Amino acid sequence: MTYKELIEKSITEKLIRIVLSKPVKGKELSKIRIRPVVIKGENLYQVTKTIGDKANNTFKEIHENHNSHDVKVLLEKAVPGDFLQGLFETEDAGATVLSNKKGTITVVPNKTVTGEKKSTDHNRKKNYLIDESDNAEFLIDLGVKTRDGKIVKAKYDKFRQINRYLEFIESSLYGLKEDKNPVIIDFGCGKSYLTFALYYYLTVKKGMKPKVIGLDLKTDVIKECNRLRDKYKYEGLEFIEGDIEHFTGVDHVNMVISLHACDTATDFALFKAIKWDADIIMAVPCCQHELNKKIKTPELKGATQYGILKDRLSAIVTDAYRANTLKEYGYETDILEFIDMDHTPKNLLIRGVKKSGMVKPGLLKENESFKEFVGEDITLQRLLKDNMK
Ligand SMILES: C[S@@+](CC[C@H](N)C(=O)[O-])C[C@H]1O[C@@H](n2cnc3c(N)ncnc32)[C@H](O)[C@@H]1O
Repeated sequence: MTYKELIEKSITEKLIRIVLSKPVKGKELSKIRIRPVVIKGENLYQVTKTIGDKANNTFKEIHENHNSHDVKVLLEKAVPGDFLQGLFETEDAGATVLSNKKGTITVVPNKTVTGEKKSTDHNRKKNYLIDESDNAEFLIDLGVKTRDGKIVKAKYDKFRQINRYLEFIESSLYGLKEDKNPVIIDFGCGKSYLTFALYYYLTVKKGMKPKVIGLDLKTDVIKECNRLRDKYKYEGLEFIEGDIEHFTGVDHVNMVISLHACDTATDFALFKAIKWDADIIMAVPCCQHELNKKIKTPELKGATQYGILKDRLSAIVTDAYRANTLKEYGYETDILEFIDMDHTPKNLLIRGVKKSGMVKPGLLKENESFKEFVGEDITLQRLLKDNMK
């Protein structure tokens, strides 16, 4: 069988997994994993690209979804372009692909077939980081699960969102310098679905003993979260009423999370995280008004004359500014899609993982040009200038 024939036979509904390994020297990618997924009724292939490795602190994973044509093209290029080995498994066949350095490919059929059934979004429950069968009782109180252990149909999106969030957490944990007892703060925790999920995942599934703090302005919400914490005896989890800007409850934090905290609350969260030199920062900004009021650039009048476009443009520029600022302070930073747009248009996750070696603030040219664009400092800029001299 040729490699092309193997690809054709594998990229079908019977695919279980493909793993490409043994990277060609000098290439950025260290591994690719492919598995089938069903998204909104469409059969797609989730491609997980691994860059770097954990040993030298360069590990990073990128998730993409492709249709069958694109994934076939990707596979054809990847061996021998990027990888010298591939493992292909379907429900009824398997093969190993080997390439030599000259690019000659050999396909070796595997004699034994696992007989495993494929797992897609329809039946992939066993792949969730917190699964239906887990004894995550807080999900019952939060209305996501019934008392007899089933996910409430109307809350399935919430359940998926919790797991997606945990996947982001999981793929960032390599950045933790304190990996057994980290201090984690969730700014603007609200009802705390995600704070409880994070706590449960790290303690029950990962065997860690984190100190997790949820902070929010709302008295009743904090009271209810602490009631649940007591009910389940979640040691090390604490909810505090307060404003991000004025929070002084701890002097070091390993991970700062802020999901949909309003307007400049995100800037205060990022500022605190930078000041604490947090190992990991995850922020999904919410509404954004500050830049909207200040934006002056006449060259963009053609766009900013429309309210919605001005709104979106201001949000994008603010988030770019925030991400670049994390870079300036030594964070490896990316912007990812948090959950699909069906749930909320505010779905960009700014993720920063601290690298050793501090970049000197002000070095990034991109941020200097933002200043010209906006005309004056925005909150994060101002806080850093006033406090990080
Ligand atoms: C949209 S909710 C998001 C809740 C939760 N993080 C989530 O993603 O499910 C935003 C929360 O941020 C809180 N918040 C907004 N500004 C804040 C501030 N300056 N300090 C503390 N909490 C704040 C609000 O009270 C609200 O509960």
